[in-house]
Amino acid sequence: MKLKDKVALITGAGGDLGRGMAILFAQEGARVMVNDINVEKAEKTVEIIIDQGGTATVDNSDLTNSKSVRQMIDHVMKEWGKLDILVNNAGDVKDALLVKMTDEDWDFVVDLNLKGSFFCARAAAPHMIERGYGKILNFSSMAYKGNIGQVNYTSAKAGVVGMTQALGLELAKYSINVNCIAPGLIETPKAATLDEKVRNYLIKKTPMRRMGEIIDIAKTALFLVSDDAKFITRQVIHVSGGMEGF
Ligand SMILES: NC(=O)c1ccc[n+]([C@@H]2O[C@H](COP(=O)([O-])OP(=O)(O)OC[C@H]3O[C@@H](n4cnc5c(N)ncnc54)[C@H](O)[C@@H]3O)[C@@H](O)[C@H]2O)c1
Repeated sequence: MKLKDKVALITGAGGDLGRGMAILFAQEGARVMVNDINVEKAEKTVEIIIDQGGTATVDNSDLTNSKSVRQMIDHVMKEWGKLDILVNNAGDVKDALLVKMTDEDWDFVVDLNLKGSFFCARAAAPHMIERGYGKILNFSSMAYKGNIGQVNYTSAKAGVVGMTQALGLELAKYSINVNCIAPGLIETPKAATLDEKVRNYLIKKTPMRRMGEIIDIAKTALFLVSDDAKFITRQVIHVSGGMEGF
């Protein structure tokens, strides 16, 4: 039980990677606040955890709205009185080549992936600072190194890497660890819808010549938010089968 008595908030935990982490964290003893703007998906994650004998609650706050994010943190505090672990997992893409990318495409991706993570960290940090304990785990992507048709996503995910570095420095003296996972290609239902050519290209770009699994991400996340990693901060871990870019 690596997370016994811990309280974790995972954003976008109705989604594939978020759900994987929520289930594993609950199995390791954490009480999990399952945030997702999609009510059905969040409820499904909570249902799985409760069926397994764990503790979890749904929160449907919109991460792109700072007031809503503050309400989400208040929700955790009201429910369980503390927040040990924040996983800024929610993210999405809106791809287009540069000259065709609209203002809306840019704002949608940057607001969710980057600004949303900032809103969450800002609202959660005071509670962690007060107790001199906390784990913040951000989600980037190997696309942070650049990808065609993703100038918005690359910029946001590179921003998340920068945010990890900055927050890690600022919060280290309070024993708050700030780290980041950059997944490569992971076998999810969404990945299954990829065009076969794109899928094969990405697998070829991966030295291990295969996709990763959701559990690979969940186990890395578990390590980083556990006290096994208490002297690790400001790091970006590539869970990518050796893939270092596109
Ligand atoms: N799956 C991969 O192969 C992969 C690769 C690289 C990076 N990532 C990153 O990992 C993270 C998780 O990816 P995933 O594949 O599980 O994504 P996903 O689309 O399955 O899940 C993301 C969840 O975020 C929720 N969400 C969207 N907007 C929201 C908002 N405004 N407020 C609250 N929730 C919102 C969605 O409803 C969704 O359930 C993302 O940050 C993604 O960029 C994933």
